[in-house]
Amino acid sequence: MTESILLVEDDPSVRTTISTFLEMEGFEVEAVSSTRDAIRRLSETPYSLVISDIYIDDRTGIDVLMAARQQYANCSVILMTGRGTMETVMAATRNGAFDYLAKPFELDTLLEAVRRAIAAREPADDETEAEELPESEMIGSSAGMVEIYKTVSRVAPTDATVIIEGETGTGKELIARMIHRFSQRASQPFVPVDCSAIPAALLESELFGAMKGAFTGADRDRVGVFESANRGTVFLDEIGEIDAAFQVRLLRFLQERAIRPVGASREKQVDVRVVAATNRDLQKMVEEGKFREDLWFRLNVVRLTLPPLRERRVDVPLLTHYFLNKYNNRYNRDVKLTESGLATLRDFTWPGNVRQLQHLIERLTILAPNDRIDAEAVHDAVSAMEPGAPGGETLADTETEQIRRVLAATGGNKSRAAQILGIERKTLYRKLERMKL
Ligand SMILES: Nc1ncnc2c1ncn2[C@@H]1O[C@H](COP(=O)(O)OP(=O)(O)OP(=O)(O)O)[C@@H](O)[C@H]1O
Ligand SMILES: [Mg+2]
Repeated sequence: MTESILLVEDDPSVRTTISTFLEMEGFEVEAVSSTRDAIRRLSETPYSLVISDIYIDDRTGIDVLMAARQQYANCSVILMTGRGTMETVMAATRNGAFDYLAKPFELDTLLEAVRRAIAAREPADDETEAEELPESEMIGSSAGMVEIYKTVSRVAPTDATVIIEGETGTGKELIARMIHRFSQRASQPFVPVDCSAIPAALLESELFGAMKGAFTGADRDRVGVFESANRGTVFLDEIGEIDAAFQVRLLRFLQERAIRPVGASREKQVDVRVVAATNRDLQKMVEEGKFREDLWFRLNVVRLTLPPLRERRVDVPLLTHYFLNKYNNRYNRDVKLTESGLATLRDFTWPGNVRQLQHLIERLTILAPNDRIDAEAVHDAVSAMEPGAPGGETLADTETEQIRRVLAATGGNKSRAAQILGIERKTLYRKLERMKL
């Protein structure tokens, strides 16, 4: 029997390409360009599979998905989009979408997804109610990020331990927060712990707690993070930095889910989910004998590796517009981005990834000459942010002016100002001293 497919896509050239391709592969394809037509067709004819774009008109592919699942429990749906977000992937997964493709994709990728979807057709779950698609704070619709969203949407509702790897500034903490937010623990605490910022000697009492008198200075009982986060999620950031002794403690905790505060005689059971992150290569640390293999196995139930920004440059414009909008609002500015400015941003290597882009845009929103971010402004800002650059080798009066503007924008907050200027706080103080003279 020929399998019939309903294709919903508002872009005429994409529509033609996909339907021609699938017809050549032996499928019967009905192509429509609006959600209204799609929903009408679905009420008239049964289809084996629906392939739909997400952002179409006043309604979305999620509406098409729900209509399809309501009419025929065993109709598979593949959604595709160039603007996938964590929220759309979650909504699609919850409503029983079979697959989710980030545009652009190879036609062979589509064909594989189509074959899998048709092979796997099965009765659907109960109906779900309509969901709004809120704006995401996680920006990025590249294929690499959509793969991350897919894994997050599958793993978030479980209690599985997750290890998040990725270079600095790639969004590891943001992803950890998403995992918590889309879990059943969402209304319970999310407690981040920066393992590299706590001295090794204190990490144990910080996480497990300590009884009064357990050590000098412990003048009352201290509740540890694992206890205070009970029923929630603990985010162990920079997990690659913990020492050998603490690795043993953590391993035991992950096995037993019990804590014994320092100086206590009894253990108590706690219910926390652990999400950990590192910008180190833990697998390699295991090979080098610097990280316990058994602990690595316990953490590595689900592993997410965030791609660096230079490997998903299509996300640069999305992120840039998002941050520009955010900082224009915050600083009450109306800075515009030019074509050349955007091209320069897209081509940059971004060693500091999204965080670096974010800081750069914040800085440019305040400082861009003529309220325009063009190639030159980007070049200047990038070189000023280079570590070790003495505050951007600008002429003294331009520099003074820059410092004034940034301080005014931050309401005199010197730490924030130093961050935006890309210099150390000490350096800013020195410059301020000099300016007064
Ligand atoms: N995809 C994204 N969309 C929007 N903002 C992002 C995204 N990724 C990262 N950010 C922002 O960039 C900054 C750095 O992100 P985050 O703290 O999650 O990075 P990280 O991977 O934990 O970095 P580090 O290893 O340095 O701790 C944050 O302000 C975060 O909100
Ligand atoms: Mg981090």
